[in-house]
Amino acid sequence: MSQARYPTLIEDGASHQTAVLILDQTRLPREPVMLRLGSLEDAAHAIRVMQVRGAPLIGATAAYGVALGLADDVGDARLNHVIDTLAATRPTAVNLHWALERMRRVLQNSALATRRDTAWNEARAIATEDKAANAAIGQHGLKLLQACRRSDRPLNVMTHCNAGRLATVDNGTALAPVYAAHAAGLPVHVWVSETRPRNQGLLTAWELAEAGVLHTLIADNAAGLLMMQGKVDLVIVGADRIAANGDTANKIGTYLKALAARAHGVPFYVAAPLSTIDFACPSGAEIPIEERAAEELGAAVSNLDTPVANPAFDVTPADLISGIVSERGVARAGELSQWKT
Ligand code: MRU
Repeated sequence: MSQARYPTLIEDGASHQTAVLILDQTRLPREPVMLRLGSLEDAAHAIRVMQVRGAPLIGATAAYGVALGLADDVGDARLNHVIDTLAATRPTAVNLHWALERMRRVLQNSALATRRDTAWNEARAIATEDKAANAAIGQHGLKLLQACRRSDRPLNVMTHCNAGRLATVDNGTALAPVYAAHAAGLPVHVWVSETRPRNQGLLTAWELAEAGVLHTLIADNAAGLLMMQGKVDLVIVGADRIAANGDTANKIGTYLKALAARAHGVPFYVAAPLSTIDFACPSGAEIPIEERAAEELGAAVSNLDTPVANPAFDVTPADLISGIVSERGVARAGELSQWKT
């Protein structure tokens, strides 16, 4: 996947350590456009309005946002302001807060004279590690996919939202095993749910098409029927925050898929790097759920005098999850402490 025509996040080679380029996801799938982020404000805005989105990509962009924010002032007060500004952009994806705390730790221990270079180096390390973690998730997940394949047809994977390469620096999380299967010659087809209201499923369709992976777009509400009809061999989704007990926050609608999967005996897996596990969060009840603007439900909403609720994420209880795939391997959702370092 590293040959992708449109990288999600790269340093702007034309201007040494002064800007990054992102693929503007608000313009996909209509047109792939790279956007230049040259300041803290640019980075915070890009995360807030979802020009970049997906937990690992948000984390890496925030790390570069710290580096951008220290362009003219590397002092402690400025560092705190930069981190606070980025931390306030989106609440649920813990990768954002994980990346910012990692940047804080490293930069607080760095001399002022070298702090700016250190920030760029650390952001680069976070981005590089994300690619590697996701590639490893692909290889571990591939074994699960192979085990779920029926001999009489291609493997039918269902996913929700976009947990592909667009949600990461590269390789994807839930889609990493799909790409690994495709590369290994395993016939694979992906059911892609639209993911109302922001339609991240269209991003998934776009990147699967780019990669030449067979897929079909469905309305979110079609998922239960397809499982009932035996047309789904496994469900695999990403995560925005996994609590210590394995409860998993992911895009709204994930929980309903997990319930349908349990009802129909379909394995339900979560794929995420260790940076998505929040060991300080005991259970799903403590995960903050982002509430987004009513307008996301459609332009017509503004003409109605009707209250709107728009929670962007839900929590799937650990006991509905067949296993969690990370760069370390596959674990039962209730046994994540083995990955605590
Ligand atoms: O609101 P988004 O688009 O940032 O939400 C993204 C998701 O919920 C993804 O499934 C999750 O971040 C996993 S990304 C590898």
